[in-house]
Amino acid sequence: MPPSLNVDVYDLDTYERGVPHDAYRVLRAEAPVHWNPEPDGVGFWAVTKHADIVAISKDPQTYSSWRGGTNIKDYPPDSLEVIRMLMVNMDPPQHNKFRRLTSTGFTPRMIARMEESIRRAAKEIVDEVGPLGSCDFVTRIAAELPLIIICDIMGVPQSDRHLVFDWSNRLIGFDDPEFQTSLEDAQLAASELWAYANQLAEERKAAGNPEAKDIVSVLLNAEVDGEHLDEMEFDAFFLLLAVAGNETTRNLISGGMLALIEHPAQRARLLADPTLIDSAVEEMLRWVTPVIHFRRTATKDTVLHGVPIKENDKVVLYYASANRDEDVFADPMSFDVGRTPNDHIAFGIGQHSCLGLNLARLEIKAMFQELLARMPDIELDGPVRRLRSNFINGIKSMPVRFTPTK
Ligand code: HEM
Repeated sequence: MPPSLNVDVYDLDTYERGVPHDAYRVLRAEAPVHWNPEPDGVGFWAVTKHADIVAISKDPQTYSSWRGGTNIKDYPPDSLEVIRMLMVNMDPPQHNKFRRLTSTGFTPRMIARMEESIRRAAKEIVDEVGPLGSCDFVTRIAAELPLIIICDIMGVPQSDRHLVFDWSNRLIGFDDPEFQTSLEDAQLAASELWAYANQLAEERKAAGNPEAKDIVSVLLNAEVDGEHLDEMEFDAFFLLLAVAGNETTRNLISGGMLALIEHPAQRARLLADPTLIDSAVEEMLRWVTPVIHFRRTATKDTVLHGVPIKENDKVVLYYASANRDEDVFADPMSFDVGRTPNDHIAFGIGQHSCLGLNLARLEIKAMFQELLARMPDIELDGPVRRLRSNFINGIKSMPVRFTPTK
């Protein structure tokens, strides 16, 4: 295999302690396209420069999401067939069709219509825990808003929302022993979620209201150039949303709060000038980068940053590194709530850029406006426990205390 620096950006034990920014910095400087070993696999190219990741993301013909999926691990052929039903693992032209259909549910107008319910939910979350004076930030605050909103969007009754929470944890926490004991359990969670989505769509269709404006109805009724989502496609999209819209936003809210706690001068600045909220949200996205990487597979022999890549090689895009790239960000290792410009790629970029980015931005903004106004002195009240994952920059629990609110 190709010569490489003795740097490993895969190792799970490392990530349990924190995202390895020092290793990324070494790679950006010395081996921006670095051959990284993999304990149970063939190895992969770790790509760490912002410009290279942007170029790859805009070239799905050379760098496929479909050929090997978008996780580093290779799937057995039957599982690969299944995950290719998720749009994140498709290539054009099939992906373009899905993107056209699903984006009908995520237009700025659809999202703007949700603003009121997002703000109401953020307020209710703080109403609920405010009087306690302390709580676990992750389960009581950060996890709640994305979960309530995803369930709202998909027409899941709020009484069932903890089912969705459990399924998405089991699906994505695959490297953390606390969430899952086996691959079989992840598959079981997926099939339970799948069956649930199916039943929901059936109920919605039986209710038969083609004028309904909620996202499930819009998706079920969507038609672009005579195409529509069939039943399996709808169920697959539901599963993707339950995972993509939950963990990511949750971990951004937890990680963003931790960044404010660890940078008291920046928190004071934001409290003194609430008009900084939009740039603060973008800085939290850059700083936390909840999705550490996604993978592509080369469709032919090619050259990247001067390095020859062979057909079928795995190429992994380290967004977490791109967002600290010295060539793009001034003083990248400092957390600056007023940072402009801020060309982070926490939502990816190009062909698969995040479908939910406007929704996520609105949720994050609403949650922090509520928290800053009503819990301005929130502090840590115990050790932060991180998710054991090299894919999601996650926090499992974060005890906090604050002056009780009424
Ligand atoms: C802070 C929150 C979020 C982050 C950091 C994030 C990050 C990302 C990233 C990096 C991708 C690119 C995948 C690739 O290039 O292979 C992506 C795609 C996607 N995201 Fe998000 N996401 C967030 C929130 C959401 C929400 C709230 C939803 C939906 C409700 C969502 C739905 C999706 C979907 C459906 C895709 C696939 C798009 C495609 O394949 O065209 N995401 N997201």
